[in-house]
Amino acid sequence: MTVPLKNSGPITVDVALGERAYDIVIGRDVIGSLGGRIKALRPGARVAIVTDRTVAKHWLARVEAILAEAGIESKAIVVGEGEASKTYGVLQEVCEALIAAKIERNDLVVALGGGVIGDLAGFAAAIVRRGIDFVQVPTSLLAQVDSSVGGKTGINSPQGKNLVGSFHQPVLVVADTSVLDTLSPRQFRAGYAEVAKYGVLGDAAFFGWLEANHADIFSGGAAREHAIATSCRAKAAIVARDERETGERALLNLGHTFGHALEAATGFSDRLFHGEGVSVGMVLAAEFSAALGMISRDDAARVQRHLAAVGLPTHLQDIAGFQQEGLADADTLMALMAQDKKVKRGKLTFILLEKIGQAVIANDVAPTAVRDFLVDKLARKPD
Ligand code: GLY
Repeated sequence: MTVPLKNSGPITVDVALGERAYDIVIGRDVIGSLGGRIKALRPGARVAIVTDRTVAKHWLARVEAILAEAGIESKAIVVGEGEASKTYGVLQEVCEALIAAKIERNDLVVALGGGVIGDLAGFAAAIVRRGIDFVQVPTSLLAQVDSSVGGKTGINSPQGKNLVGSFHQPVLVVADTSVLDTLSPRQFRAGYAEVAKYGVLGDAAFFGWLEANHADIFSGGAAREHAIATSCRAKAAIVARDERETGERALLNLGHTFGHALEAATGFSDRLFHGEGVSVGMVLAAEFSAALGMISRDDAARVQRHLAAVGLPTHLQDIAGFQQEGLADADTLMALMAQDKKVKRGKLTFILLEKIGQAVIANDVAPTAVRDFLVDKLARKPD
């Protein structure tokens, strides 16, 4: 694999979806081109910027100025941060604000924020006036490599995560990697779990490259753009082949069946960020695959070692408060997994590993095997 040694200007990744194709533009300071790009895409469009309070503090004035310079009128809609905003109540607020701002079908919604904002603003754009186009300006690593690409939008139901939503592709993604400089190390690390996921599920060479180059990704060198672009290319290719997740797109859920249950068990709180849940979930998926005789124990250990090397939690016991507050028992985790969208006619779907770089969809995993595995993992003493 060619490793770029110098920053080389913006990288454009095409999401090849026919008449709904769009570009992901990746690079330092590409946010400055947002006005020009929007003007070229939708001449005369007005823009509603949906963002959260924390992102607004850092970036809203800048984005408003960039749009104004391009002669684009904008209206900001600012919501609270975090998963608590992915609710019916906040969705209603955003929809009503879009209608009050007279955002019409030819206008645009800009989702300026992390995964929560992209999901919420994208879903509001999908349903107001039966569909308004939207642009993703992801401000977290997790959103840049995963949630801003592929058109999954939605909110949480009291009964489970992301259970209400739609597929609504953005018309453009602008991923400015310098925006990531304001993330906390913990947020950046959580996003990195999704980067590592692309190597583990489908690209062994990329996984090896991450093992060698992760420090440069964290310090913001050219390796960061390369890692984000490689992740986006991997996701774009899968989404182009299976937009609605009737098949291989499910591979992108590696680590998510366990991960979502762990997020639910910790109340979607700061105890476990989504990416941290994916990290623990990915290690559980690798170890469960090894227990089923699929991936070798050495490869499963290699996945765990890499995620631990960047400081991510990899064991249930690493989850904040495990010793003090505990975690759900195996039956509760099983019940939480059964509520996930990845259940088909009562059967759990897991993404399992045959080797690093080769994930498979397993639709027929015996619940007793999962339960026994979890009982063992909950009881284990970490090394
Ligand atoms: N985050 C998984 C997907 O977009 O399909």
